[in-house]
Amino acid sequence: MPVWPAPGAVSAQGYDESMGDNYIGGQWVPATSGRSFPSLNPADLDETLGEFPASGPEDIARAAAAAEAAYPAWRRTPVPRRADYVLRVGLILEQRKEELAQLMTREMGKTLRETRADVQEGIDFCLYMAGEGRRAFGQTMPAELPSKFSMTVRSPVGVVGLITPWNFPVAIPLWKIAPALVAGCTMVFKPAEDTPLLATILVEIFEHAGLPAGVLNLVHGLGDEAGAALVQHPAVRAISFTGSLAVGRQVAEICGRLGKRCSLELGSKNALIVMPDADLDLAVEAAAWGAFATSGQRCTSTSRLIVLEGVKEAFMSRLLARVATMKVGSGLDPDVELAPVINRTQKERVLGYIDIGRREGAVLVAGGGELTGPGYDRGNFIAPTVFDAMTPTMRIAQEEIFGPVTGIIAVATLDEAIQVANGTEYGLSCAIYTRDIGATFTAITELDFGVVYINAPTIGAEVQLPFGGTKATGNGHREAGPVALDEFTEWKSVSVDFSGKIQKAQGID
Ligand code: UN1
Repeated sequence: MPVWPAPGAVSAQGYDESMGDNYIGGQWVPATSGRSFPSLNPADLDETLGEFPASGPEDIARAAAAAEAAYPAWRRTPVPRRADYVLRVGLILEQRKEELAQLMTREMGKTLRETRADVQEGIDFCLYMAGEGRRAFGQTMPAELPSKFSMTVRSPVGVVGLITPWNFPVAIPLWKIAPALVAGCTMVFKPAEDTPLLATILVEIFEHAGLPAGVLNLVHGLGDEAGAALVQHPAVRAISFTGSLAVGRQVAEICGRLGKRCSLELGSKNALIVMPDADLDLAVEAAAWGAFATSGQRCTSTSRLIVLEGVKEAFMSRLLARVATMKVGSGLDPDVELAPVINRTQKERVLGYIDIGRREGAVLVAGGGELTGPGYDRGNFIAPTVFDAMTPTMRIAQEEIFGPVTGIIAVATLDEAIQVANGTEYGLSCAIYTRDIGATFTAITELDFGVVYINAPTIGAEVQLPFGGTKATGNGHREAGPVALDEFTEWKSVSVDFSGKIQKAQGID
């Protein structure tokens, strides 16, 4: 049984070049098909980080069977003991933070500053969830009848399927794995095909932490092969999915048809509102960070700048001056602020949206294209791009681009700003810069978003707060924070009658 690890007792084993298998029932195994796919460095497409199994339904079936076999013993393991494994993983991650950050920058591009933060978010959340294992509270409530006791206890959903994106290769898998483990679920984890190396290392860390075989199974592969098979597998009781709206809708349809639980964290079109009384320097820095960190590839990225007319010109000129200082290049270079986008397909998609914006009549005031030449030719580099004269109904103001592209919409009043901010199908993150108490509370009350920031950028959510969005961004679930266990537990309502009689509820005698 695991106990609090002694200092130095946790493994700090380094990255092993031979890795690149699925992890099923405690064994590292190749895909049944024998096929594989490479993981490429988006800053240098000549660099391959490894070959990973292109898995299909047979591999998913084996992983689901392993998770089913491990479930009874895991479910009965006391919650604080289950949470101890999560704590150990957090401590190992702390030791291996720099190594993982370096590999993450090579595998998915974002700057080292940000990959360190991704691992840190994972550590923070492990420590948070390890504490939740000592709480996982139920409630007691007064019974209507004498000599009767009522309470609720959490019980695990069962075997769950976790499907994660490439933009946070450590933090987002842990948002799902850690609470699922504490809840008592066993699981099959299907990471994004763009970041298989980081997913492999993460699972290897759980193995080093001593997690029993079969509790966490890893199956690599493409969404329409491995992912679809996972969603459909009858042993899998719930799916937790973070990714695009289009795929999320398919997942929800299948889960609806099969009567499974599913929780979705999908796209968004996040906005930053700049009021006339805002500290403009702070608002400009928040816009630059929110729009261009992770090359705009966060669900929380700022893709709309809604600026009150009186300050629009001043805001825009300061923003353009700031953007002009941004160095674009490999995320390993400490001076780089804007790293590559994840892959060729995404690069083409983003460039396509820049074209759409131009044709719709938005005015390009910064960037607007691919970067070529030495240092750029072998990667997926796009210049930081800003549109002026974006209108609320343009496609570039409505559709998630997931790239380093943002646009300014001028508005006359706070009410109009809020109406524009709320006027998309999404609702994840919205920020407002103001020093006015009335504007602050109007924004808090009226913004139809799951995450609202006052004088802080749209990115950078902390793990102790629930995370998720309204409308098409999700389906009502939240990850992290005090509600993290809800996704992976059922409430069991328990009544104990110690009256020695049959007591009939609702006043029947
Ligand atoms: C995401 O892009 O899906 O708030 C998550 C943030 C991060 C999480 C982003 N903590 O920017």
